Amino acid sequence: MILVYSLGGSILAGRDPQSLRLYADALVELAKEHKIFVVVGGGKIAREYIEKARALGASEMFCDLIGIGATKLNSALLVAALGDYAPLEIPDSYALAARLAEPGKIVVMGGVAPGQTTDAVSALLAEYVHADKLIVATSVDGVYTADPEKDASAKKLTSMTIHELAQFAMQTEMKAGSRSPVDPLAAKIIERSSIPTAIVLGSKIENLKKGALGGHTGTEIRPE
Ligand code: UTP
Repeated sequence: MILVYSLGGSILAGRDPQSLRLYADALVELAKEHKIFVVVGGGKIAREYIEKARALGASEMFCDLIGIGATKLNSALLVAALGDYAPLEIPDSYALAARLAEPGKIVVMGGVAPGQTTDAVSALLAEYVHADKLIVATSVDGVYTADPEKDASAKKLTSMTIHELAQFAMQTEMKAGSRSPVDPLAAKIIERSSIPTAIVLGSKIENLKKGALGGHTGTEIRPE
């Protein structure tokens, strides 16, 4: 299968080197049988830097560029953890990402263009390489009916349709550094190309495999 992962930046950056290696090992294992692309997010460092730059009067566009820088920093950390199993080059384009793919190797990339998040990059990459599945490995363990941190009655959805995901994402803010399961553009891309998608808790290493092959406790997005 061709698998594209959207990996939240905080999932990698908080790990010590040994734990990063374990994470990388799980991807290498999957790459023995599948073609793997990983798009890494900006995480905490992106949010912190964007917040400070915004407070200093930086434009949203400039904040996005800072965010893209953070995604590349986190991507570089994953490349370091993957060693020989990842090209050293972090592609700036989808075409280069596709070109860098080789059997057994994992292509790692970050953000590419302002006005979106790495979820959109991963959805567009999934579209471009005809991925069989997109796995959004994030800091929440699925899609909830409301923000579980603010609303005690919030329920996790084990499954939803692609159209429901698109509607859900449209309600979220489109600001640099904003937090939501997937951004509206990603949801639209997933919808237009009916990309089978899983949203799983990325900090659990086994969810890399389960997100792709099943058995996770997150949210499956059904193409209908
Ligand atoms: P993320 O993809 O990590 O955004 O990119 P996020 O969803 O806000 O972060 P998580 O998932 O909660 O950790 C970080 C920031 O980088 C910029 C955006 O400002 C984004 O918020 N970015 C990223 C872009 O402008 N373009 C891209 O292609 C990717």
